[in-house]
Formats: sequence, C-alpha cells, structure tokens
Amino acid sequence: MRDARSFSESEINPLHSIEQWEDDVLKRYPEPEVPAKAKEEYRNYADPVRDTVREFYRLNHTYQSYDFVQEKRAEFLKFDRKEMPVWKAMEFLNTLVDDSDPDIELDQLQHLLQTAEAIRRDGHPDWFVLTGFIHDMGKVLCLFGEPQWAVVGDTFPVGCKFSDKIVYPEFFSLNPDYTNEKYNTKLGIYSEGCGLRNVTMSWGHDEYLYQITKDYLPDPALYMIRYHSFYAQHREHAYEHLMDNHDREMFEWVKKFNPYDLYSKNPVPPNVKELKPYYEDLIAKYLPPVVKL
Ligand SMILES: [Fe+2]
Ligand SMILES: [Fe+2]
Repeated sequence: MRDARSFSESEINPLHSIEQWEDDVLKRYPEPEVPAKAKEEYRNYADPVRDTVREFYRLNHTYQSYDFVQEKRAEFLKFDRKEMPVWKAMEFLNTLVDDSDPDIELDQLQHLLQTAEAIRRDGHPDWFVLTGFIHDMGKVLCLFGEPQWAVVGDTFPVGCKFSDKIVYPEFFSLNPDYTNEKYNTKLGIYSEGCGLRNVTMSWGHDEYLYQITKDYLPDPALYMIRYHSFYAQHREHAYEHLMDNHDREMFEWVKKFNPYDLYSKNPVPPNVKELKPYYEDLIAKYLPPVVKL
C-alpha cells in the first residue's frame, strides 16, 4: 500500500484549503430556510472549485480502505507527536492558514467559536458548548503532513459495502475493498445491529479527536465529535443496519449538532480575546491540563 509520503503534492492537497470540503457540504445540505439548489443542479454545477472537490473525493474514496484506516490508527493513536494545553492546540490548529484563497475566510478558531457561541446562545448544556468549540481540533492532522482526504471529508464505515448514499459513490470502484469479498457485502465483517462502537470508520479528524477526548466527555458529546462528518448516516440514514438502540438515541445529538457546524458561519469574526476566559474555564472543567496529539 502507498504510504502518505509517496503521494505527490497535488494528491496530498487536492483542495486549495480544507474549507472547500465544508463549503461543498453546505451546498449539498443547504440551510432549510435558504432556497435549496436542486440535487441535480448540485451535481452538475460546473466550476473549478467543484472539480477540486471531485478530485478530493476521488482520492478519498480510492485510498480509504480498511487496511489504510488500520495503518492510520496505528500511526496516530500512539499520540506521540505533541503534548499541549487544549487552547494551545487550537492556536496550533490555527496555523493551518489558507494561502491560496484571498477571500475573507474565517480561520479555524473563528469557525469553532462561532459554532460554540451559537450553541451557547440556544441555552444548551456547557459540555455541548465545549463540544462545539473543540469539534474540529482533530484537523491538526493536516499539520502533521497528512493528506487532506485523510483529515476531512464525509466519513463512512470501512469493512463493509460502501453505500451509494455517500457523496460521489462512483469513485469507490477504485478502492481495493470494492472487489474484496470480505468487505464488499452489505454487512461485510460486521453483524446486523452490532453497534457503531464495533464499526471502523474511515480515518479523519472526527475519529482522531474522539480518541483524544473519549475519557472526559459525556456520551452525546463523544458521538457528536466522532460522527459529525458521517453524513451518509445522520442525513441519509444509509447504515441503520449497523446501528443499535444506543446509537439511534445518541444520533439525535449528532443531528442536533450538525446545523451549528454547518450554518453558524458568520462574516463577523468573534472576539477571541473576550471569549477566551469562558472557554479556558470550560476546558478546565472537563478536559485534562494537557492533551496528547
Ligand atoms: Fe469537522
Ligand atoms: Fe466544523
């Protein structure tokens, strides 16, 4: 199998910035009140950004195989790269700047604060606010030289048939698991209703942050972190057959979280200095003084 080092620059970074993935998700799942583009129009939309997103998914769907995920888990779940306080990790994440897009894009910290502040305004529990604040911290993977398609992008189970409800399903025919009899049946290596805790997801910032925070946050928060990019389930319900009752209950929280992630973007940047003490307190309440990345 090809390891990350053998990918070319354009294969590692097919997108101009990782925000292009989330911008594309927003086009796919527009805010209900905002007039929705027809699905067909979405797919036929011809523009250069769309082509980079398409290429991003070609790479994602080609290389996110069961073995690739196991390799990444072994590599990153050792957490032997860095050790730092959560706020510092956020500042570290914010060094991930977009060098090619001249638009007034919000940086990662601003997206996280806007998500969290929208949750706070709606009066949700403080662990929900904290979840909004940290949910994309796992994107620091990009700063370790990881390919964009192994950090962001819709996530999906590996080890069983790829659903055609996943965006650009046609690219899965390029994945080695597509023709592997062990993995290409509806249930693959899993059993009906086995529960997502027994299912390996494609590798990215969601699973990585879940593994960092799993001992510290309440279960609904951990589901939001772990499955927030699993659109094929929380939007399309394509993997009901792998879920158990606990998953179904917890996915209500994942669904509650998603609009804050997608629709809280606001051109007015939040006041980081003013908000920092509140978030430092929240971090101290739930998370250890330093996290291992
Ligand atoms: Fe995310
Ligand atoms: Fe996000």
